[in-house]
Amino acid sequence: MKILTLKSSGNRNGSSNALAAEFIRGAKEAGHSVTEYDVIHADIRPCLGCNRCGMSGPCVQKDDYEKELKGLIRSSDLLAFVMPVYYYNWPAQLKTVVDRFYSFTGELTSMRKKAVLISVAWDNSDSAFDVVTAYYRRICQYMDFQNQGMIIGKGCGTPDMTKRSRYMKEAYQLGKSL
Ligand SMILES: Cc1cc2nc3c(=O)[nH]c(=O)nc-3n(C[C@H](O)[C@H](O)[C@H](O)COP(=O)(O)O)c2cc1C
Repeated sequence: MKILTLKSSGNRNGSSNALAAEFIRGAKEAGHSVTEYDVIHADIRPCLGCNRCGMSGPCVQKDDYEKELKGLIRSSDLLAFVMPVYYYNWPAQLKTVVDRFYSFTGELTSMRKKAVLISVAWDNSDSAFDVVTAYYRRICQYMDFQNQGMIIGKGCGTPDMTKRSRYMKEAYQLGKSL
């Protein structure tokens, strides 16, 4: 299976990427190939809502999404959404990646891709992830993605906190289980 990790933290060595690395280690051990994509450091502009794509055609934004990420999404079997929680929601740049599904929504939906969520927050409460998980589930439902699992990294405020947490093992096991 081809896995695409959509990483959305500006901290290249941060908490969400630490969990992603364990997920990737497990997935590779299970025989899968992994492409890592850093959406924060790419040139990905917002959907303008111009509808020139007609939901099935080229986007007017000639950026990294149109030039490379769209193709990577198309050719992957599983999308891993990797994120720090920002104000109890998805980071804006990763939300932008989803908004840009618009130019190939029908095609993408018909591909019945798999998906996982890997998230971290400083907050140690379950409710800190309410919006993050609700949106993820809704997108899986709408896009016909098959959810393969969620890592809900509570109390993962720094890389040290994260590396000491049980979520490292959970992330590895999720990758290995695919
Ligand atoms: C802009 C911003 C907003 C944040 N919002 C929240 C929040 O709503 N709840 C929370 O628990 N932590 C919040 N945090 C903390 C991060 O989620 C947390 O430090 C996380 O470990 C960062 O992950 P990273 O190292 O992968 O970037 C926020 C951090 C930033 C920079």
